[in-house]
Formats: sequence, C-alpha cells, structure tokens
Amino acid sequence: MDNFKFHGVDTVKMAKKYGTPLYLVSEDEIRSRCEEIKSSFLNKYENTMAVYASKAFLTVDMAKIINSEGLGMDSVSGGEIFTALKSGFPMENLIFHGNNKLEEEIELAIENNIGRIVIDDVNEVKIIDEIAANNKTIQKVLVRVSPGIESDTHKYIQTAQVDSKFGVPLKDEVIDELMENLKGSKNLEFLGFHFHIGSQLLKNDTHLKAIDIIFKLMDDVKTKYGYEMKELNVGGGFGIKYTDEEPEPLSYFIDPMMKAIEENAKKYGMERPKIIIEPGRWMIGEAGMTVYKIGTVKEIPGVRTYVSVDGGMTDNIRPSLYQAKYDALVLNKYKEDKTELVTIAGKCCESGDILIWDLEVPKVERGDYLGVFSTGAYNYSMFSNYNKITRPALVMIKDGKDKVSIRRQTYKELLKGQI
Ligand code: LLP
Repeated sequence: MDNFKFHGVDTVKMAKKYGTPLYLVSEDEIRSRCEEIKSSFLNKYENTMAVYASKAFLTVDMAKIINSEGLGMDSVSGGEIFTALKSGFPMENLIFHGNNKLEEEIELAIENNIGRIVIDDVNEVKIIDEIAANNKTIQKVLVRVSPGIESDTHKYIQTAQVDSKFGVPLKDEVIDELMENLKGSKNLEFLGFHFHIGSQLLKNDTHLKAIDIIFKLMDDVKTKYGYEMKELNVGGGFGIKYTDEEPEPLSYFIDPMMKAIEENAKKYGMERPKIIIEPGRWMIGEAGMTVYKIGTVKEIPGVRTYVSVDGGMTDNIRPSLYQAKYDALVLNKYKEDKTELVTIAGKCCESGDILIWDLEVPKVERGDYLGVFSTGAYNYSMFSNYNKITRPALVMIKDGKDKVSIRRQTYKELLKGQI
C-alpha cells in the first residue's frame, strides 16, 4: 500500500514500529533551518548571534544538534538549564530568561557560568547581583523591556504590549529605577536590551516598530547614564506554515530589521551593537509531525462526524489553548479523494479536546492513521499527563532513517515519584 512519506520515511511503518501517538521530528529540516539562519543572518551580517528558544522543543538530542550547528540557546527554567548542561551544551552560549526566575534557578545558572541572564524586572537586579557576588563572578546581563506594542497574533502569545507580565515597562520612572539599580550593582555587566514581540508573527512591521523604540531608549540611557550598549537581542516570533499561511523566508524579517538597526545607529551616532535573534517555532515547527491511530468514528446525522484519535490535548494543547489550526492527512489513504468533512477529536475527557474542526478526508475507519503537520514546536514541550495519558515516543528522522530519541512513557513511570 502507498503510505505518506515524511522526510523519506513511511509514516505508517513508523506508527506500526513505535506505536501511536508518535512524534516524528526531522533532523534534516532542523539543520536546513540552521543553514538558512547562517546564510541570511550570521554569515551575511557581522557581529551577530542566533539563539534557539528551547521552550519550543528541548531534548538532549535537540540541544546537541543546536550546538553542533554553532548556535546558542535560550532557557527559561532550571529544567531547561539542566537539560542543556546534561547535553554538554557550552554554558557561555546559553541565555536565561523568565519573568519569575527562582533564586535556585539563578544560582544554577551562575554556578555553571551561564552566558547571559536577561533581567525582567527592576527588583531582579539586586537578586542576581547578590548571587553573582556570592559566586565571586561578574555576570553578563541584558534587560528585557516591553516596548508597548500589540502584535497580530493570539492574545496568549503577545508578549510586548503595555499590559504584559514580561519585561520592564517603558515608563521613565521605572527605567530610572532600573538604571540606578544597575549602576549600583557590583557584580553585573550590563550589555544591552532585549525585546520579544510575540509569537507566530507573519508580518515584520512590529519588529521594525520595536527597533525604533529601543534605539530611542538606548540613546536616552547613553545620554543620561553613560552606558554604551554592546548587544541588542530582538527576540524571535517568526511565523511558520500550519494551514493556509504563506510565511516569507527568514530574510523578510532579517534584512529590513538590520537596515533599520544600521539607520538608527547612524541617527544616534552609536556603534551598531551585536545583534541577537531568538527563534523557537521557526526552527522546529515544520520539522515535526504527529501520527495517530483512528479509533471511534461517530456520526451525528445532520450535525457532524467525530473522528477520534488516540492522542489529543495531552500531546498537542495548542488547538484547545489558542484555537490553533492544523492540517492533517489520512496517511494510509492520502491519495484517495477527500469526500467527507469530519472533526478530529482527541481522547481526553474534555469537550474542548478537538484537534481539528472540519477536515476534509477520504472515507475513514477505525485503524486508519492520521498525520498532523507542523507539530514540532510547543507540542512535545507542552505535553501533559492529563487523564494519566502517557507521553508518546519521539523519533528523529535523518537521511531517511529513524532513531528513537525518547521512548514512550510507561504506566509505571506515570506513578514514579508517588510515595
Ligand atoms: N524569546 C523569548 C524571550 C520568548 O519569550 C519566546 C517565546 C521566544 C524567544 C520564541 O518565540 P518563537 O520564535 O517560538 O515564536 N506556547 C506558545 C508560544 C509561546 C511563546 C513564548 N515565548 C504557542 O504554542 O504558540
């Protein structure tokens, strides 16, 4: 039978070999994204750095791939730092973010000589300074600011609006307090600012707007406090294809941003700082696919047909959380005419556990296999054990060959840690 192939592997064969649900991740696709980062950013512009936002998808294997490509990584928790450490990731290339970094997380970061900590609040300055002093080290820091911009994306993944839990607000009195705190710190080296507008952005206008805002801030800080900014981290957020989006290449974001940066640097008579980008979803989203087995097919005459699969919101929370849209194929019937309109439901005890409303499919039955595309980002990383459903296996594909990266969780492991 002719089954759908994902990066050269027969998806149904994979499903039978490893069981379902199954995360498939193409290492070839990840590496080709790294190549695009190099050709359109790192090799094209001097004094630049690319940092992968590991929250999108982090395994020991992924950290090793990112390191082998010479990219840095961003972490937002002790667990992500620990994973990077265990993979042998060079700590000088790791950045630590977060709106509520715990003292023990900051200690873990500093004890292991993390490259940068991104301060998210004026009061964090003293905490990080103290921990750096205890460790007799000078910690390099950036400050995340919230430029007060609303991006065109789901409310839950906007991160730079005025009313945001992320970043230092751009209000004079807050910036003054921040700068006083930084001036007063003894063990921090303040390198520059960071912003992250939001996620799954398909237009570059909000990044450009933020650059103008941030340069004005950099100029104010230079005039008032004498700080020359050495670095500027412009975050990630570059969008990908889920259904009918038509994302532009990375250069669509990079080139106008770099132009705006050069122009602003000239305008304010500054040396252009080192520019850092932080893509997460763009690096990994389209590299992933989830394979499910179809179970119950329930027709409500005149209403809708629910086709249930053996996973759902536990392996992909995004449709329930953000009304995210996905595309899918019946993998063992992908060449057949699509004659029916069905709704793909997960198996959780939750009415909101719907993966895809209204998907065109051929006639489906129990035992068919469904493949959902673009599940590489924020699927595995947002997995939950709701309903005591176990975590799927994760298989990496490289040069048409499959290799288990994470094996399926067992029932026994579900109870691990219960005393
Ligand atoms: N840098 C910072 C500081 C961030 O907060 C984020 C994402 C990124 C980089 C990477 O953004 P990306 O390039 O992946 O868009 N769970 C949500 C996405 C949350 C993103 C939060 N921050 C989702 O599934 O859509």
